[in-house]
Amino acid sequence: MAAVCVYPGSFDPITVGHLDIIQRAAKLYDTVIVAVLHNPGKQGCFSVEQRMDMIRTACQGLPVQVTCFDGLLMAFMRETGTNVVLRGLRAVSDFEMEFQMAQLNHQLAPEVETLFMMTTPQNAYISSSLVREIGAFGGDISAFIPASIEETVRIHLLNNDCQK
Ligand code: COA
Repeated sequence: MAAVCVYPGSFDPITVGHLDIIQRAAKLYDTVIVAVLHNPGKQGCFSVEQRMDMIRTACQGLPVQVTCFDGLLMAFMRETGTNVVLRGLRAVSDFEMEFQMAQLNHQLAPEVETLFMMTTPQNAYISSSLVREIGAFGGDISAFIPASIEETVRIHLLNNDCQK
């Protein structure tokens, strides 16, 4: 049976930190499903379709499937028949929330395992919201965004094209 993991998140937009986790997961799994959370309650900067397109571009050549979901992650796992969730940990500050989510998700779906991968140190400080802020003020985002989508992200942020 092919080994599959699901890497869920907002990816608004995907950063080099996310890509690092995906590249490393691709060495361990036959397929990495990158699942973009469609959260009607949280106004994103990029539309879900734009985020998915950017992930596809950034992950070209990798065994990655890109999809989106709304509602509960555990419902998505059951619908897709997958049972490994991968999450990246950047710092101790991530741990508390991740620990809580993993515990609650385990209660909702005990057959699903949540696995954690430490972010490489140089990416530990990156977050999508700070990259959005730097880009919106015309700062250089090239160190934080995969090169294949940097221009798209830069122009979008500079033009203040975030979803209204
Ligand atoms: N490198 C760099 N940055 C990273 C990163 C990495 N490896 N991993 C996460 N981040 C950043 C993201 O850019 C994001 O930054 P931001 O907050 O500044 O935008 C932040 O960490 C958190 O983002 P993300 O990992 O995408 O998590 P999330 O909180 O947006 O989404 C879900 C987490 C999707 C897994 C969770 O909300 C979920 O499962 N939702 C569905 C509803 C549900 O099932 N709820 C019950 C949960 S018990």
